[in-house]
Amino acid sequence: MIKRSLLLSLLLVAGSAHAQEPAPDLEKARQTAETNCVACHMVDGNSELPDYPKIAGQSEDYLLKQMKEFKSWDGKPVVRENAFMGAMISPLEEADMKAMAVYFSGQTLKPAAAKQPDTFAEGQKIWRAGIVKKGVPACAACHGPAGKGMPAQYPALAGQFPEYLETQLRAFRDGTRKNDPAAVMQAIALRMTEPEIKAVSDYAAGLR
Ligand code: HEC
Ligand code: HEC
Repeated sequence: MIKRSLLLSLLLVAGSAHAQEPAPDLEKARQTAETNCVACHMVDGNSELPDYPKIAGQSEDYLLKQMKEFKSWDGKPVVRENAFMGAMISPLEEADMKAMAVYFSGQTLKPAAAKQPDTFAEGQKIWRAGIVKKGVPACAACHGPAGKGMPAQYPALAGQFPEYLETQLRAFRDGTRKNDPAAVMQAIALRMTEPEIKAVSDYAAGLR
């Protein structure tokens, strides 16, 4: 009897904690996608130009982290700098961003393709085993064997535009993107040559 009432009160506490967080407004998120994101990412997050990453089906937590980091909060410098995204994201509040993350995460990815059969073997080797002599770890260790990522921290890379993946690896290497926890991607990219970056990016784009 005591046990049962304890369980009941725990359920009530859990229930009320849940009730405090408003459900994400997915209809509003879809409208924002239609008016603000469509120009670059399309309504469903399946961008058609490699300048703009595909965000359909990406992990919700990763999307939210990026959106928050493109925006300046309380006058502080932005964590991830990008002129396009800075302008797009600044009117959104955190609750809007959460809803956008749920919305885009729930869309189905239309994957990009690998284009460089000549470097497939090299890309696959780096993905699966890293570059041992340079201390580059296997990408698969964090981004998963099939590139699906591991929520919450590790984004999916499978089916992303190879050009976008290359751009990000160069940005980590050059220190223009430094929002990776513990600088893990910066340390990796610093040790990679341009051909290695290209090979692994193309391989990742082709993963399913
Ligand atoms: C004018 C073009 C443009 C528009 C419109 C735009 N974006 Fe972006 N978005 C970009 C670019 C360019 C990047 C890549 C930035 C970089 O290279 O760091 C990006 C990156 C992102 C990322 C990070 C993806 C990743 O894999 O790290 C998210 C999330 C995102 N955009 C969400 C949105 C949302 C939500 C909207 C609408 C409110 C939006 N974007 C509107 C151009 C745009
Ligand atoms: C120890 C874990 C770890 C390993 C190993 C790792 N990554 Fe990452 N990677 C991350 C994390 C964490 C992020 C997200 C950073 C952030 O929060 O912005 C990331 C982000 C990325 C991005 C940006 C994705 C986007 O949508 O903008 C690319 C590209 C990338 N990694 C490529 C690679 C490649 C290629 C390898 C192998 C050579 C690799 N990573 C190995 C942890 C790892």
